Amino acid sequence: MAHYKLAFLGFGNVGKSFARLLLSKQTELHNLYALTYSITGIATASHGMAVDLDGIDLLRALKANEYQDFCKTTPPTSVEEWIDACEADVLFETTPVNYTTGQPAANYLRAALERGMHAITANKGPVVHAYQELKQIAASQGRYFLFESTVLDGAPIFSLFQRALPAAQLISFQGILNSTTNLILTKMGQGDEFNQAVKYCQNIGIAETDPSGDIDGWDAAVKVAALVTVLMGIPIKPSEVQRQGIRDITGQQVLQAAQEGKRWKLICSGEKQGKSVHAKVQPELVGVESLFYNIMGTSSLIQFRTDVLGQFSIIETDPGPDTTAYGLLSDFIYAVL
Ligand SMILES: NC(=O)c1ccc[n+]([C@@H]2O[C@H](COP(=O)([O-])OP(=O)(O)OC[C@H]3O[C@@H](n4cnc5c(N)ncnc54)[C@H](OP(=O)(O)O)[C@@H]3O)[C@@H](O)[C@H]2O)c1
Repeated sequence: MAHYKLAFLGFGNVGKSFARLLLSKQTELHNLYALTYSITGIATASHGMAVDLDGIDLLRALKANEYQDFCKTTPPTSVEEWIDACEADVLFETTPVNYTTGQPAANYLRAALERGMHAITANKGPVVHAYQELKQIAASQGRYFLFESTVLDGAPIFSLFQRALPAAQLISFQGILNSTTNLILTKMGQGDEFNQAVKYCQNIGIAETDPSGDIDGWDAAVKVAALVTVLMGIPIKPSEVQRQGIRDITGQQVLQAAQEGKRWKLICSGEKQGKSVHAKVQPELVGVESLFYNIMGTSSLIQFRTDVLGQFSIIETDPGPDTTAYGLLSDFIYAVL
């Protein structure tokens, strides 16, 4: 039986969903993988940081709103101090994405790897801004830097290529990778104006108060950059992705397209061209013959073209923090087995 000490950096939607998933899978982890765990740290930005080397009661933490009371000694005053104090085997990083620098998450992941922890994240920022560096530190420490949850939530994308498709070359991909814009376009197809559709997404907690990261295509561009960087081996930044969001699409255009049997979709793509790549995010009109036509609401699709399997696709229906949490769990099991 192997026991692992886990630390949660970020305890919001995804962090809490992951905590619930760990609790519900406790018996399977024990019986199938001879694996037990305890939580030695929880850190947030404004609700305090907890450290308890004897193990934090996760059920109690899920009901709490402040975490410093879980500390048995003086609470840490910085995330770096907290990383040191938790003495964890695995750090799970689920803080908000910083599209332009990947910070401070990238620094926290580096600190965890340098202290000999596996570093697992749901945050796209560090993948596009620090992939090579974090991968190298992980390798030098005999640890893993894993990030399955960053694109298509828990659906296998990175692990698929890294583990199930050895020696396959990715030639190109195309996908609907941003749930918020796909839901906005779906609502506009049902008669909403753009602002109404955005408001709807904010009310149900899908879009942020400032939704520009989604509607201007930044979230999609970061995902494209992550796929190109990791799966094609060509490091690019989100700013190098040709990007156009959906801000200028009107309700009238969406209804007009519907009359012609078409739908607007925000299509992400990357295509290898020799040693470089053409990567873009842009709204496109698709007809019924397209796989993208029936991807509605928050669902996603990615289609890959490889040198060995030709074309194949993955569709993810109605994802959310629970499916993202599964990506963290699958990375955890892979890292420690
Ligand atoms: N939600 C999804 O379905 C989904 C899907 C795929 C990927 N992701 C990615 O997963 C990550 C987490 O998403 P989420 O929805 O869980 O976000 P969230 O609900 O906003 O939670 C973020 C957590 O990080 C904490 N935090 C923020 N800045 C911090 C800092 N500097 N140091 C320590 N803790 C900090 C927050 O603390 P406070 O509460 O005190 O601010 C909060 O606990 C994001 O990178 C997101 O892009 C999310």
